[in-house]
Amino acid sequence: MERKRKLYEGKAKVVYETEDPKKLILLFKDTASAFDGVKKAEIEEKGVLNNTISCLIFEILEREGVRTHYIGRVSDREMLVWRAERFPVEVVVRNVATGSIVRRLGIREGTEFDPPLVEFFMKSDELHDPPVCEAHIVLLKLAPPEAIPLMRKTALRVNEILSRIFTEKGIRLVDFKLEFGKLPDGSVAVVDEITPDSMRLWDMRTGEKLDKDRFRFDLGDLLEGYREVLRRLSDS
Ligand code: CDP
Repeated sequence: MERKRKLYEGKAKVVYETEDPKKLILLFKDTASAFDGVKKAEIEEKGVLNNTISCLIFEILEREGVRTHYIGRVSDREMLVWRAERFPVEVVVRNVATGSIVRRLGIREGTEFDPPLVEFFMKSDELHDPPVCEAHIVLLKLAPPEAIPLMRKTALRVNEILSRIFTEKGIRLVDFKLEFGKLPDGSVAVVDEITPDSMRLWDMRTGEKLDKDRFRFDLGDLLEGYREVLRRLSDS
């Protein structure tokens, strides 16, 4: 499958049409960005690592029966996906308190959430992705009302699957963000990417951060962290 017309270019990916109107190609760029694009850098190889990790994770989820937009890996930085009508909502699952929830609600950093916490945010650069509740999602028509419980249930299921796999590899899945959309067959599925850009991953032995916080807070070489995640995920 080959890239045709460019549809959209975001901070980390470019979306292309293909010869099949129902399928798109996502191309992962080497751009790293944080704090609404205020901090930015080109990091050679990041796109390849993110595509590879995202493909691996989508393959795991599909094997476990989670509906996703993933079709296959096209090349080192390209993924083939079903075209989706994307909901402008970010679904965040948290196992440990860090990041925005600590700033927003004054919860102590490192607090464990049992059961895990699910939060919704509206995707809006202009409004800086504000937190929204279910009533807001319905009011603003961000997603079909019947998709809300499904997104919550799927996000928790994804958390179970990925927490188990990362724990086996000595990594704590601290939190992550999912996006959802409607596929051409009408089903609601996980879309976008699942990479260390959208997850927090802490080494269980050393506490070392292996995710984008390395870039956000200058904690060390981003590639080293992402390579370590890929190495452990591929190690069976
Ligand atoms: O990153 P920040 O502290 O601003 O936000 P958060 O709400 O603590 O993020 C929770 C999780 O969702 C982290 O793993 C983020 O990397 C991820 N996230 C994301 O991928 N994209 C966003 N726009 C916001 C959060």
